[in-house]
Amino acid sequence: MSTRSRLATVVATAVALLVLSAVAAIAFVYSGIYDVSASSKDNAAVAWLLHRTYEASLHRHGGKDLPPGDLMSLENIRAGARMYDSTCALCHGAPDRPLSAVGQGIEPSAPQLLAASRRNKPPLMFWVIKHGVDMTAMPSFGKTQSDATIWQLAAFLYDARGITKDRYEALKAGAN
Ligand code: HEC
Repeated sequence: MSTRSRLATVVATAVALLVLSAVAAIAFVYSGIYDVSASSKDNAAVAWLLHRTYEASLHRHGGKDLPPGDLMSLENIRAGARMYDSTCALCHGAPDRPLSAVGQGIEPSAPQLLAASRRNKPPLMFWVIKHGVDMTAMPSFGKTQSDATIWQLAAFLYDARGITKDRYEALKAGAN
């Protein structure tokens, strides 16, 4: 076989493989084999893929907005606590409170943002809260909330790692 016809065979095989993969992917989509229900845990491979994509996207796009100078003021933390309690706790949990029916039903589930082991770096948290996470239950709050409000949430999350029920209630009430 000449070099030229060998090259033609390689190209034809590559094209055939590409077409076959595309047909297989479309057949998979239309077959309904993939189970989209949220009542069972995501398949480990799918969960890994979604989470890695999320982490990489967060670190590429997030962290570029500058926090306000008074980010960690008590006023900001209190305002963030009130908003967290009314809008976020249903999915992300609050100390000594059972998770809501919404929070228990979503898949992937929402991380416990008040856990002591969290890092909650404000510029990264700001980005996630503002833009949300595609294909999960995490909404984009930038559609309805000002940057100032979102920074208050980020300040609260940073301050609240490992928070006790008493401090949580006091912050919410504006008494701590
Ligand atoms: C309807 C459920 C729901 C509500 C309400 C919700 N979240 Fe989320 N949130 C999620 C889910 C699910 C994820 C995880 C997304 C993923 O798997 O990548 C998430 C992720 C996050 C993350 C990223 C955490 C990390 O480890 O990177 C932050 C920060 C966050 N939410 C903050 C908030 C704040 C603040 C509010 C309220 C203003 C809120 N969320 C309201 C469901 C929710």
